[in-house]
Amino acid sequence: MAAPDSLLVRACKGLPVDRTPVWFMRQAGRYMPEYRAIRRRHSLLTICKTPDLAAEVTITAAEILPVDAAIIFADLLLPLEVMGLPLYFSSGEGPVIERPVRDREDIDRLRTDSASDLAYTAEAVSLVARHFGERLPVIGFCGAPFTLASYTIEGGASRHFIHTKQMMYSRPADFDVLLGKLVSVAADYAAQQVAAGADVIQVFDSWVGCLSLEDYRGRVLGRTRELVERIKTTGVPVIYFGTGTCSLLAAMKETGAEVIGLDWRVPLDEGWAKLGDAGGVQGNLDPVVLFAHVSEVQTRAQEILDRAAGRRGHIFNLGHGILPETPVENVKALASYVQEHSPQNAF
Ligand code: CP3
Repeated sequence: MAAPDSLLVRACKGLPVDRTPVWFMRQAGRYMPEYRAIRRRHSLLTICKTPDLAAEVTITAAEILPVDAAIIFADLLLPLEVMGLPLYFSSGEGPVIERPVRDREDIDRLRTDSASDLAYTAEAVSLVARHFGERLPVIGFCGAPFTLASYTIEGGASRHFIHTKQMMYSRPADFDVLLGKLVSVAADYAAQQVAAGADVIQVFDSWVGCLSLEDYRGRVLGRTRELVERIKTTGVPVIYFGTGTCSLLAAMKETGAEVIGLDWRVPLDEGWAKLGDAGGVQGNLDPVVLFAHVSEVQTRAQEILDRAAGRRGHIFNLGHGILPETPVENVKALASYVQEHSPQNAF
């Protein structure tokens, strides 16, 4: 842990802060010309697997934007590769898993003993932590079991998650074995990042909102709690993020994550109320607001700060990642606005 007294870590722990910390999911990405310049020369996987490049991309974004944290540049799906599932990123379709997992033999073949092959991310974390020292905390991340399973089973992005839910409904024991294997590798991956200097781990469960509350509780919560508990034994706080999760929030809190990430569909104070008194929230501006005039961006940011009302444990972020065509100037203006207008989070 390089920046234990940073605004972000303090907010995660529910301690008072001088102002609300702000960072953005996908703050290093295609909307930024500096990233596109590196991307012209290297594939996404090469950047992720070359610690100097991953660190450079991470650091550049966190230096250009006035943000309060650097999120390590990597991808959610890298752990699938070391489990024996080759993948590539196609420009039109997004990620493609070449041989999706569909039956019990496929699940049994998945390896859980090769997480050390992901050490390139931890190496990048240590370069970033060394660069920023106490100035900025480093966020490491991994996928949650449901969202990882959805890519593993569908073979890529999905709209209705038919194969995933089919396995969950018709072969629940197999589905649970798969989630358990994904948790094992994701937990090792997160622990490597913490050992290398990550101050906080964010667990991405981007597509968990496709589940009913009953299915989330019955088929997914237990394994997700196991992941969060394993990460917490490393000593860093956990931010657990999903989208479309309005009806799942109270159950998501039962994972034990200190902070829950909200998307933009739920008003921040209403989402926070569903989580109960203990713990923080992260969010939750609609990333598409960044395509509006800067005055509208600022108005919407202020509305979120008003809903947080200076309560301890608010971390400002978008409700999902920055989109590729987003104007950089608006991202900078948003971060500055939050830094200049947020109240002390003292009570
Ligand atoms: O700055 C950061 O936030 C760190 C970088 C980061 C990437 N992926 C790099 C990336 C993070 C946090 C992720 C997480 C990730 N990856 C998630 C969870 C977050 C979310 O957005 O819900 C998911 C679902 C993935 C899987 C993934 N990787 C998809 C679906 C895609 C295609 C998206 C697209 O718009 O094409 C990727 C590719 C990817 N990962 C890009 C980046 C910057 C863009 C592609 C590129 O540079 O070619």
